[in-house]
Amino acid sequence: MIANIINLSRDKDASAAAVQAGKNLSSEGKGHVTIEDVSVVFGAGADAHTAVESTQLEVHPGEFLCILGPSGCGKSTLLNSVAGFVQPSSGTVAVDGVPVTGPGPERGMVFQQYSLMPWKTVRDNVAFGPLLAGQSKSEAQSIAYTFLNMVGLTRFAKHYPAELSGGMQQRVGIARALANYPSVLLMDEPFGALDAQTRLMMQENLLRIWEDFGTTVMFVTHDVDEAVFLADRVVIMSAAPGRIIDDFRVDIPRPRTTDITTDDTYIQLKRRCMDRIRSESLRAFEQQNH
Ligand SMILES: Nc1ncnc2c1ncn2[C@@H]1O[C@H](COP(=O)(O)OP(=O)(O)O)[C@@H](O)[C@H]1O
Ligand SMILES: [Mg+2]
Repeated sequence: MIANIINLSRDKDASAAAVQAGKNLSSEGKGHVTIEDVSVVFGAGADAHTAVESTQLEVHPGEFLCILGPSGCGKSTLLNSVAGFVQPSSGTVAVDGVPVTGPGPERGMVFQQYSLMPWKTVRDNVAFGPLLAGQSKSEAQSIAYTFLNMVGLTRFAKHYPAELSGGMQQRVGIARALANYPSVLLMDEPFGALDAQTRLMMQENLLRIWEDFGTTVMFVTHDVDEAVFLADRVVIMSAAPGRIIDDFRVDIPRPRTTDITTDDTYIQLKRRCMDRIRSESLRAFEQQNH
């Protein structure tokens, strides 16, 4: 298992084949997300709770955006409104000009909890989306193998999720989301449950896949290091009700490796985020205690 975790490097040919098959989506200018004046209120009357308030956000095709904020500030709710799992109480969400009214295959989601179907093999979990989209069984399986190869897991294709480590299950989750050739990949603290070493490898692996694939990524995290390491742009959400209170570019060249953590730009950006997050986390803590 350790050997497999170390062998995270995705297969170059598999990746090229997958991109070829799915076309480089960003080069077509797809994956443009617009969030206009979105508020999400849960409950009603005295129990009403505003999770997201008047949020404005535009994510450009092919951009890697991280959403950073204290626990409970509305990050998942905002992401779920793009996924189509949550309907905004007001405002609109659109992808490539089409309003989001529910989930769709062009918006792939990777959750923190490994959400694979335990009764299906790894291969069939990944093949499920293409099958739903109308591919034949053999085509769907071939797509599954392509993406399992990309995340380095073909050897486990016929295993069941419970037989895999957390990191491996999460790689299957990524393969499953990519198998629909999404123009937007939504990731909700996908590496939050992994140990530090595995998380680092997963981050580097994700960047390599994204650089080849060119899909728009919206990645939620509460980890400042993770946000600055991954993103083209970081937005910071306030304590509840969640609003975007900061938005900055991460001008650090790619490809990035963990060496950048000693880079001056990295250190300055990280400090800026930490200051913002610290005060918002304190505010969140005080709110939750009243
Ligand atoms: N389906 C729901 N029904 C009621 N309240 C919810 C629901 N989902 C989230 N909330 C509340 O909305 C707030 C924001 O939650 P969430 O978006 O999960 O925060 P985060 O992901 O930043 O930790 C929290 O107070 C949470 O309890
Ligand atoms: Mg969350």
